[in-house]
Amino acid sequence: MISMDTKTIDEAVELAKFEQKIANEEKIEPSDWMPEAYRKNVIRQMSQHAHSEIIGMQPEGNWITRAPTLRRKAVLLSKVQDEGGHGLYLYSATETLGITRSEMIEALQSRKAKYASIFNYPTLTWADIGAIGWLVDGAAIVNQISLQRTSYGPYARAMVRICKEESFHQRQGYEIMYELAHGTPVQKQMAQDAMNRFWWPSLMMFGPHDADSAHSGQSILWKVKRESNDFLRQKFIDQSVVQIEVLGLELPDPEIVWNEERGHYDSGPIDWDEFKRVINGGGPCNYQRIKHHKKAHQEGEWVREAVRAYRLKQQTKNVA
Ligand SMILES: [Fe+2]
Ligand SMILES: [Fe+2]
Repeated sequence: MISMDTKTIDEAVELAKFEQKIANEEKIEPSDWMPEAYRKNVIRQMSQHAHSEIIGMQPEGNWITRAPTLRRKAVLLSKVQDEGGHGLYLYSATETLGITRSEMIEALQSRKAKYASIFNYPTLTWADIGAIGWLVDGAAIVNQISLQRTSYGPYARAMVRICKEESFHQRQGYEIMYELAHGTPVQKQMAQDAMNRFWWPSLMMFGPHDADSAHSGQSILWKVKRESNDFLRQKFIDQSVVQIEVLGLELPDPEIVWNEERGHYDSGPIDWDEFKRVINGGGPCNYQRIKHHKKAHQEGEWVREAVRAYRLKQQTKNVA
């Protein structure tokens, strides 16, 4: 009985310290006490982010062998490689919360964990690589810049480093779009079509509207999320409309119009039924993405085996 009371008091003291740190804008570090719900919340967000980096390699990897020039091939190759690096970096950062990488991979492959639903759409033409770099990496940057101030230290620091690379990703995508949009009529049409297809899924990347977002309230209080979904989405729309004008393409949404009073662009309604269908497995490529991940993971078993054998050898050596 006494020990229970002591535990409760200890926890209350720890919780007060934790909340004070959050209020002071101090980072929570792996060795710090944190509420279980905070730990779970950050694990969910970081592992989903890591999975998105890794699964996102697939739609772009599809075009490495078909890039139109050697320069484009080299750029795309290094971009996709960066995404792999982001994924691994984030898996390691998530492991500091007491979950293993194998557990995260298992959650991804059994579809318990989600990843950005935009990667369940196919890349049909070369212009899709432009649209992805420009819009998808662009939306990711808007989100990730705000996450540089997230309350969990390893996540915040990972974002600083990752954002630097993301800005190159966006530029390479925009450069592809710019060249196509100023090329032949067929190329311009290709750019228009790619933008039209990726526009709506890009807006969905910010998640449901604030009023319908299941995890938003607590995440904002704990400063895991620093800005609301709708705020970030609006920021993305405002910056993209100007970029579309520079490209000389038609707006992908006829309802986009400048609202003088709000100082922002208004836009049409998002098809949330499509979002739910795709995030729950009903998108054009969900099955293919996970199937490919499992295959690659199985084929990589020999590497993990070799790492285990090497570690064992080192341990035996040290004992001897
Ligand atoms: Fe990335
Ligand atoms: Fe990226």
